[in-house]
Amino acid sequence: MKRVAVLTSGGDAPGMNAAIRSIVRTGIDKGWEMFGVRLGYKGLIEERIVPLKARDVSGILQLGGTMLGSARCLEFKTPEGQAKAIRTLNQFGIEALIVIGGNGSQTGSYKLSELNFPVVGVASTIDNDLYGSEITIGVDTALNIALESVDRLKTTASSHQRAFLIEVMGRDCGYLALMTGIAGGAEMVVIPEVVTKPEEVAAVIYRSYELGKAHAIVVVAEGAKYNAEKLMNYCDENRDALGFKLRATILGHVQRGGNPGAFDRIMATRLGAAAINALERGEAGVLVGWVNGRPGSIPLKEVVSNKKQLDLSLVELSKTLF
Ligand code: ADP
Ligand code: F6P
Repeated sequence: MKRVAVLTSGGDAPGMNAAIRSIVRTGIDKGWEMFGVRLGYKGLIEERIVPLKARDVSGILQLGGTMLGSARCLEFKTPEGQAKAIRTLNQFGIEALIVIGGNGSQTGSYKLSELNFPVVGVASTIDNDLYGSEITIGVDTALNIALESVDRLKTTASSHQRAFLIEVMGRDCGYLALMTGIAGGAEMVVIPEVVTKPEEVAAVIYRSYELGKAHAIVVVAEGAKYNAEKLMNYCDENRDALGFKLRATILGHVQRGGNPGAFDRIMATRLGAAAINALERGEAGVLVGWVNGRPGSIPLKEVVSNKKQLDLSLVELSKTLF
């Protein structure tokens, strides 16, 4: 009987619970003993491992967040922290670990697999910045939350003939901002991949005003060089250059909380089962992600040594729709 543990790490994402449930139940279905690690890598260092039976993951499929808790753990980044984590895994007789998380978390998975501990990652982050996985757990739900906010802000913007800066999450990647902008019909998107100066944003707002639009919506990624706060500061000093009056809304963690939609529940369930199947085949040191529209494995080495590229032709598309 195999003893397998699962943890969630880094920023939580709607659908993480669906992945945990799937991992635990498909593992048990194979006759394995399943365990959960509380609070990500921190829990490995603090020896917080608990057995998980099929009924322990009841009622979580539809819930956002993660029943195991998540954390950002600096100590785990050190060789001493990683050695401690492996000591804990060995102490509990764990033979393989599944890590549900994003870029940083999968770098941690890679470090453990380099130390010869069998690890399989599951691609999960609302940022969609994991190389090798077309889409990751949480993106679809977060995108729909951001989109609903844009739709709502658009109606009040039109009523008052205002411009809005709407900041969405995305530490290093503009995927969420770009897709929110396209789906929400924004006048402009500002993303980390393309440096956009405040005067360019002001010019688009003014052009919208001159064209007689009822509003101007600018979707800004939090990781852009000029985020909503910086753009607002510039616009405050250059009010006459805008035409419209301007407001800013920062969506923040609202996008990460809440229940996962159908797409994320199904994808997370399939990725969780695929992670168990990968371990059964003897695979380790891989990320289980979405490849060609279905679950697939990508070597963690490849994942951590490459940066996922945003399709910049979609930025051009968004400009044509002005
Ligand atoms: P995410 O996985 O959502 O991108 P973070 O980047 O915050 O979130 O990473 C989550 C955790 O993964 C960190 O707190 C740390 O414990 C671990 N981690 C991140 N980078 C590394 C690294 N270079 N080496 C080892 N562990 C790392
Ligand atoms: O990685 C996901 C993410 O939501 C990023 O978009 C954001 O920059 C970051 O996490 C926020 O982290 P925290 O929850 O620690 O504020």
